[in-house]
Amino acid sequence: MTMTERHKKLERNITLLAVCTLITVAIGGLVQITPLFYLDNTIEKVDGMRPYTPLEQAGRDIYIREGCYVCHSQMIRPFRDEVERYGAYSLAAESMYDHPFQWGSKRTGPDLARVGGRYSDEWHVQHLINPQAVVPESVMPQYGFLAGTELAVGDPSATLTALSRVGVPYSQEDIDNALMDLFLQADPDAEGDLEDFQRRYPKAQVRDYDGDPSRITEMDALVAYLQMLGTLVDVDSAAAQQELAQEKGR
Ligand code: HEC
Repeated sequence: MTMTERHKKLERNITLLAVCTLITVAIGGLVQITPLFYLDNTIEKVDGMRPYTPLEQAGRDIYIREGCYVCHSQMIRPFRDEVERYGAYSLAAESMYDHPFQWGSKRTGPDLARVGGRYSDEWHVQHLINPQAVVPESVMPQYGFLAGTELAVGDPSATLTALSRVGVPYSQEDIDNALMDLFLQADPDAEGDLEDFQRRYPKAQVRDYDGDPSRITEMDALVAYLQMLGTLVDVDSAAAQQELAQEKGR
């Protein structure tokens, strides 16, 4: 029987064709899926990543509540136009503590993955109060009420506990001190051990963010969050490390 005759037999017998197709697809699937079960983690570790501070986390909750993600993504793709506009492309590890992640699929406004440190606090406050005063053609809504709304602090320990249950590595110390840490980050003169706070949260920026040191507003929390985005990992060296690791693996 020649190859063509065998093939004819296969094509004309629907049951045989179905069984053979199933076997072929199953083998292909196994080859792709099985190795994933032997990986502990698909995210490469990078230096500098730490969980959000209680104040940053509160800002992040406001970001989500206000639907900022509807217009802004937080993921710079590894394409030249994106890297030139927004900075080094995002690493998987940079969103490993995000619950939920903020990658996004639509950009009405620019990507915010590395917006931290790009503008002053005053710029952010002005822009959030009235985006059109800063960028006249902006379609971004105004969020002035954030500056007038005292932050509902609630129980940050409970938030951190919940996050630790889904794998964010907060220590017991972080959880116990959450409330104090939150006030300390927005007001360096508040009660608490600043050095210990910055040891537990490296690169945490401590200051009054909204220009009104007398109270902690939702604006403080949101700007604290925006100002830390993309500032934790030394991306140039982290990307270089990853490339080196990949070279070695080849
Ligand atoms: C309707 C869509 C929309 C929503 C919702 C929105 N933005 Fe924007 N955002 C924009 C647009 C468009 C721009 C670019 C023009 C400008 O700077 O105002 C922008 C710009 C920005 C910038 C400046 C980024 C840069 O690199 O120049 C920041 C920061 C920002 N938005 C934060 C926020 C935050 C925080 C929220 C939620 C409280 C939010 N945006 C909600 C559309 C939106």
